[in-house]
Amino acid sequence: MPEYHEQVYQPEEDTYLLLKYALKEAGPEDKILEVGTGSGLIAMEMSKISEKTIAIDINPYACISAKKSGVEVIRCDLLSCINTRFDLILFNPPYLPTVSEEKIDDWLEYALDGGEDGRKTIYKFADMLGDIMSKTGRCLLLVSSLTGVDEVSDYFSRLGLLSLIVAEEKIEDEKLYILRIFHDMCSFNE
Ligand SMILES: C[S@@+](CC[C@H](N)C(=O)[O-])C[C@H]1O[C@@H](n2cnc3c(N)ncnc32)[C@H](O)[C@@H]1O
Repeated sequence: MPEYHEQVYQPEEDTYLLLKYALKEAGPEDKILEVGTGSGLIAMEMSKISEKTIAIDINPYACISAKKSGVEVIRCDLLSCINTRFDLILFNPPYLPTVSEEKIDDWLEYALDGGEDGRKTIYKFADMLGDIMSKTGRCLLLVSSLTGVDEVSDYFSRLGLLSLIVAEEKIEDEKLYILRIFHDMCSFNE
């Protein structure tokens, strides 16, 4: 496996679980966005399926790493730079519950720190997701038992988005889930 910059998240079990289900979900006509691409591994594999794949990350070292893998990447904070809709959105977010005394002031912290309940970045992402997901679009989101999958599903539901658990995998003392999120057609706004 290639070695990435020390400030870039190295692909782990969560990366490979999301990749596995992204490979099942993606089609050649899909406009694909990977949020928080890190090394760029997932976006690189998606680019082989659809030429219309782009990735974003807030970490400049991650952007350099993804670019080196041949991925079209934009450095931005979550979806703030996106003004078009995508058919498939992928996100393995920072999800570890982190209190302020545990915070480390470096770029890798963005890969891990999910705020006090682990859901801070997920909720910010959720607030913007409906506006950038196409009518028949879907999002695959990695969620951990440390983060609380029911709480995350409830949050999407309050935003008029439906979610289903499509995969779960036990790793050491945590369980990883893939949530598949899509529009509730009754509340979709063009
Ligand atoms: C757990 S890592 C996942 C990296 C890669 N996708 C993987 O699965 O190996 C989370 C990634 O999200 C990025 N990230 C965190 N907060 C972000 C934000 N507000 N905007 C964009 N990217 C963010 C981090 O820099 C990091 O690369």
